[in-house]
Amino acid sequence: MNNAGLVTPAADLIEVHQVTKVFPGVKSLDRVSFGVRGGEIHALVGENGAGKSTLTKVMAGVYLPDEGEIRFDGQPVQWKSASDAKRRGIHVIHQELVLFPQSSVAENIFAGAEPSRGPRLLGLVDHRRMHERARVLLTELGVQLDPRERVGNLSVADQQMVEIAKAMASETRVLVLDEPTAVIAGKEVQLLFTRLRALRDRGVAIVYISHRLEEIFELCDRVTVMKDGCKVATQAVAETTRDGLVRMMVGREMKEIYPGKPAIAADAPVLLDVRDLCVGNRVFDASLTVRAGEIVGIAGMVGSGRTELASGIFGALRAHRGTVEIGGIRRSRMTPAAAIRLGLGFVTEDRKSQGLLMLLNVAQNVTATTLGRVSRFGLLDRRAEREAAVVAIEDYGIAGARPAASVATLSGGNQQKVLISRWVRVCKRVLILDEPTRGVDVGAKAEIYRVMRQLTQEGLGILMISSELQEVIGMSDRVLVMHEGRINGEVEGERMTEHDIMALATASTRRTTEDEREYAAEPN
Ligand SMILES: Nc1ncnc2c1ncn2[C@@H]1O[C@H](COP(=O)(O)OP(=O)(O)OP(=O)(O)O)[C@@H](O)[C@H]1O
Ligand SMILES: [Mg+2]
Repeated sequence: MNNAGLVTPAADLIEVHQVTKVFPGVKSLDRVSFGVRGGEIHALVGENGAGKSTLTKVMAGVYLPDEGEIRFDGQPVQWKSASDAKRRGIHVIHQELVLFPQSSVAENIFAGAEPSRGPRLLGLVDHRRMHERARVLLTELGVQLDPRERVGNLSVADQQMVEIAKAMASETRVLVLDEPTAVIAGKEVQLLFTRLRALRDRGVAIVYISHRLEEIFELCDRVTVMKDGCKVATQAVAETTRDGLVRMMVGREMKEIYPGKPAIAADAPVLLDVRDLCVGNRVFDASLTVRAGEIVGIAGMVGSGRTELASGIFGALRAHRGTVEIGGIRRSRMTPAAAIRLGLGFVTEDRKSQGLLMLLNVAQNVTATTLGRVSRFGLLDRRAEREAAVVAIEDYGIAGARPAASVATLSGGNQQKVLISRWVRVCKRVLILDEPTRGVDVGAKAEIYRVMRQLTQEGLGILMISSELQEVIGMSDRVLVMHEGRINGEVEGERMTEHDIMALATASTRRTTEDEREYAAEPN
């Protein structure tokens, strides 16, 4: 249906045939054959570590396959490098963004292909033209960003848009997006989908990797399921169901992924009490409490100040007004060191730049903030470190990981689990989780949810920021909704619906009145 202009709709534009890729100790791809047609959006799904990213990296010349063949436009090819493949129009937006934080938005978009002034050999960049073209590209994507802004100053969501603009800046025939929506939400997702559909209709072959299955049904034409390095099946999306996909991915039935919500004791102590917190021009007069045994959700659009609120509570960003009380001790100026001492843990949303120590191995990462517990007389006890890692690997099902494996070689979802397990070990009172299941597969999500409930049962409080509404509703005892830096309202019980949360997230009214509800319920 989307191949209207093509004479032979079944021909693959890019294809891998019987490809095998082995890393020390892991067979990441085991004789996988996979093809993408021009003019289709082809979803690639599977559990963490199934081999999705590896497969796309082989297609794009990042890795050389150990066996098998790549065909492009019907011809066998052997990419010499990623830039070789890129020159032929194969563009990958990787799971972990790879921008230059010190450079401007425009410089990142045109990196290596800046519009030049005078003879190209002189290497003079035409800045005016570059900024102008960047501005046009960004406007087309529906984002308002200053091309001169340094990328390091942007939110993760905006950095994602810069990546996409970068792909648009060159002649792209195959576009691979590795979990693009892990860092954006709501309106931005819809804009991205609109762009992708337009590219598809122009004949681009698109590979779309995501753990959010509802997106597959909304956007994609075909879907390929991977498991343990092998291809399970390729199907038309119209002929598959969510349950069917999950069964192929996980290999078993999965009905309920959210654990039950036990009632909170009436006399449960308040562990975290935040009053009138103001952080820069991002958070205004935020007040909230978290009690023992409670999971409090924070919903809101990307950019509504959720992460800044969490950072302000933790002391990673300075609050210029307001106070934070943890376990009965009130502070007006929190620092991360003090927060950790008082029993606060903070799992940040951006695991690469803030969370994990990429050069260290799994065991070192699990214990990084708990060195006190694995050292004897100030000496690091390697055995205790190893044992802690083995426990974490087991508890969280970090598939394929060994304590001595370098964290950088783990799949994205497994890195997230290492990060959570590390903080759980130090946190004594309240754990703040910012997008805890980003990039995590359905099976592992259920494991993380189970661990969260277990922690609250043991007396911890949890403050969870999430852009996934179903997760917020499924896990929280109450939900605070942020809008433009303020906590715009709180919902619990019956009122914890997608509709009521969205209404509070998008409008600055203090209450959702009956009228507004009816208004918003009308299709627009
Ligand atoms: N450079 C590498 N060195 C060693 N092992 C690797 C490397 N890259 C990937 N692996 C391993 O290969 C397997 C497949 O990883 P891959 O990143 O392709 O998974 P994925 O399906 O993309 O998972 P996720 O959904 O978590 O991103 C994993 O066991 C991973 O640890
Ligand atoms: Mg991956």
